[in-house]
Amino acid sequence: MTRLSRGRFITIEGGEGTGKSTNVDRVRNVLEQRGFDVLTTREPGGTPLAEEIRSVLLEPRDEAVDPIAETMLIFAARAQHVAKVIEPALRVGRWVVCERFTDSTFAYQAGGRGVDADAVAQLADLAHPGVWPDLTLYLDAPPGAAMTRISTRSLDRFERERREFFERVRETYVARARDQSRIVLIDASRDLVSVQREIVRAVERFLSTHANP
Ligand code: TMP
Repeated sequence: MTRLSRGRFITIEGGEGTGKSTNVDRVRNVLEQRGFDVLTTREPGGTPLAEEIRSVLLEPRDEAVDPIAETMLIFAARAQHVAKVIEPALRVGRWVVCERFTDSTFAYQAGGRGVDADAVAQLADLAHPGVWPDLTLYLDAPPGAAMTRISTRSLDRFERERREFFERVRETYVARARDQSRIVLIDASRDLVSVQREIVRAVERFLSTHANP
């Protein structure tokens, strides 16, 4: 009997308006051209229940949201997403490309809101034991530049945060990219063609060492 090899888990991270969705599609194309069966998804969300939690998280509200409550809602959505979508796909050999994952929680809730990073790590172990991205493409851009790109849309609860919040988010991402070799920092302040060229290069480098279709 042929045993399917486990799929790989790739995440795309970055601040607001850095072009994550467009680049998820680009990564999917590269992988499909190489013959991989690809599932694309996003966080918070990715299942009906997790998408409901996403709406709760993003909706602007008068009541201030406690950072721990926010963190636990995010991990509730993530536990469901991993159990029902991500892990079953990886198990049958599919490659999963996900827009945002737990690096977002370190950046936004620990870096941005000041939640204890060890608590985030513990919740991550509880919500998705043994499931971590194999490759993370972090799209780095100064918050100011990115915010002007989204300023024409109506803003959600996170997008209404102050510039300093996004500076802390960015610093946390950059520090994680420095410390962890699975995270590739990509300068997303350049034109889309240059950004995508670098993304394709990073994925091909990964494939040359991690692909066994
Ligand atoms: P998106 O619109 O970029 O998909 O993400 C929705 C918002 O959720 C975004 O502002 C960042 C925030 N977020 C967190 O604060 N923590 C997390 O762990 C995730 C996944 C998203």
